[in-house]
Amino acid sequence: MRLVLALGLALLGPLVWGGDINPQRAQFNYQMSCQGCHAPDGSGANAVPRMRDQVGIFLASGAGREYLVRVPGSAVSALSDADLAEVLNWIVQEFAGASVTVPFEPYTPQEVGALRQHPLNEVMAYRAQLLADIASAK
Ligand code: HEC
Repeated sequence: MRLVLALGLALLGPLVWGGDINPQRAQFNYQMSCQGCHAPDGSGANAVPRMRDQVGIFLASGAGREYLVRVPGSAVSALSDADLAEVLNWIVQEFAGASVTVPFEPYTPQEVGALRQHPLNEVMAYRAQLLADIASAK
């Protein structure tokens, strides 16, 4: 039993490890900047997609990984690059669960800073195409 648990943690750990994050600060920033639309548990509402148990799907492709930063809610938020990287890593760790199918390399402030220079418009069509591409690559 203990061995099974240890193996389970060893397998899951690298997939969900969010890097050097301060969970209290990340959660506070999520509450202040994101939660109003995304709900405390990432379940979303109406036009706001559910992140809980879903958002990790995007990490399966490079464009999908970039999408999580370029989506306007992320890109144009008032958070600094470092705080936004931390919140996104926290979101993956906290909400993504089993939807993460590849080892997750935490976002860095540099990566986030570069990507948020290119916020998406026409998000929903782009999002649908990303998900179709990811599904067909399986
Ligand atoms: C004013 C409401 C609002 C706020 C505030 C907001 N978002 Fe969003 N978010 C959305 C909507 C709506 C979408 C769906 C895509 C779109 O239309 O932009 C979305 C999509 C996303 C997605 C992609 C999820 C998916 O399944 O497509 C991520 C990641 C995300 N937001 C992160 C954040 C982060 C991080 C913050 C806080 C820094 C934030 N959002 C703040 C409304 C919001």
